[in-house]
Amino acid sequence: MTYTRPTAVIVLAAGEGTRMKSATPKVLHTIGGRSLVHHAIAAARGVDPVHLQVVVRHERDRVAAHIEACDPDCLIADQDEIKGTGRAVECGLAALPADLAGTVIVTYGDVPLLTSDTLRDLLRAHEASAVGVTVVTSRIADPTGYGRIVRDADGAVLRIVEQKDATDAERAITEVNSGIYAFDAALLRDALAGLGTNNSQGEKYLTDVVAVARARGRGAAAYVLADVWQTEGVNDKIQLAKLGAELNRRTVDAAMREGAIVRDPATTWIDATVSIGRDTVIHPNTQLRGATTIGADCEIGPDTTLTDMEVGDGATVCRTQGSLSVVGPGATVGPWAYLRPGTELGADGKIGTFVETKNANIGAGSKVPHLSYVGDATIGTGTNIGAASVFVNYDGVSKHRTTVGDHCRMGSDTMYVGPLTIGDGVYSGAGSVIRHDVPAGALTLSEAPQRIVEGWVEANRPDTESSRAAAAARTAAASGEAVASGRHTGDNGQETRR
Ligand code: UD1
Ligand code: CA
Repeated sequence: MTYTRPTAVIVLAAGEGTRMKSATPKVLHTIGGRSLVHHAIAAARGVDPVHLQVVVRHERDRVAAHIEACDPDCLIADQDEIKGTGRAVECGLAALPADLAGTVIVTYGDVPLLTSDTLRDLLRAHEASAVGVTVVTSRIADPTGYGRIVRDADGAVLRIVEQKDATDAERAITEVNSGIYAFDAALLRDALAGLGTNNSQGEKYLTDVVAVARARGRGAAAYVLADVWQTEGVNDKIQLAKLGAELNRRTVDAAMREGAIVRDPATTWIDATVSIGRDTVIHPNTQLRGATTIGADCEIGPDTTLTDMEVGDGATVCRTQGSLSVVGPGATVGPWAYLRPGTELGADGKIGTFVETKNANIGAGSKVPHLSYVGDATIGTGTNIGAASVFVNYDGVSKHRTTVGDHCRMGSDTMYVGPLTIGDGVYSGAGSVIRHDVPAGALTLSEAPQRIVEGWVEANRPDTESSRAAAAARTAAASGEAVASGRHTGDNGQETRR
């Protein structure tokens, strides 16, 4: 069964949220990588309303700027100093066309688990019963604090009574108002215009529209939602964590349904915006955030946090922190790697242990296996960067780029002082400080000759363990015993070996 496109969704987000005890407005707090109000806006977008509007007041400019960034087509309406959910909707309607007809949905900016599917079900139920208002309700064990759904003997919805205005008998009702509704637009506008603030909180209650609809013979209905998580709001940081964990549980379940293998769902945190290919294994303590996409047959984690990353099929990423980077198919990263923005590792390449990269294009099959920093670099294909190497990209004022060609064998402990271009097929000696360009096929060396000063320890560090060991070795050598590591210096000062 289909439904008619709603004329508007109005998201209420004007409340203060004092129980959050936070400098950040409540609806800007995040779960699953998105603010609470962004979740509400995304759910509303899913039913394709003609107008999508958020009503704001508390921290108006911050909240409005955030909404603009999340969804530039979203309208912002301002609530005035009159309080209450009814007034919030009235202010919203005042900013929409006066001849608004059809169905208006109202939701809350602090109810993040509500789905577009539920809003679609609400629209279908509302249209099928042809009433003036349909309210989403749930039956919960402890209804304290919620508005109660008052029905007549036949089960028809009569009105909603707030906790603070309810009799003891009404407080015993366990069917509660979720705060999500579908209204006939004209009825909603007329009803709100006639409502006062004569209640225990001195507010204009949106809930009172239900009784008005009945009084005008338009009828009211309830859509009972079994999945109570979808109607739960965030009022404090305990609920923020609770709903965050539940949202994550749902997202991780969805990833497994799509074919991912998740070893430990409890310690795996996946944003709703992440995609994971089939048979990729996610190991414990892994967070996948933002616009991250992971291919098929990968091994990700343990202890890995990837934000806005693209990982190709069959790649391995272990104990790694990475953001805004690309890991090619079949490539290996970690353990203990840090991929900063702009890293691109080619197919079957390797970024190994204790390696940090940034703005680094490392070609297919190239390897940076150990203890290195690669910043502002382009490395060709099939090249090996020796252990403990640094791409010296910063002269204290500016950043400089280094380019290394294809199939190079670069020695360990090498400093690449940019700007620098190293050709294809180059070899370099260990401990080089490369300051000048190297042509293709060359060997580059820059180490100083090694000096040996015989007898220095006994002369300069007397009465030490080193000195005594040196003396013992000298005595043993003099008595003709073999000395495994004995060395002496030739006439030219170059090291020679006995
Ligand atoms: C409201 C309902 C109650 C329902 C409950 C569900 C009314 C009168 N009561 O309770 O029946 O069970 O939600 O959570 O509607 N807001 C504004 N402007 C305001 C006041 C609130 O925009 O002047 C927004 C808040 O930002 C929030 C939402 O409306 O997103 C609900 O406000 P809150 O104060 O939490 O709800 P209650 O009035 O306690
Ligand atoms: Ca609330």
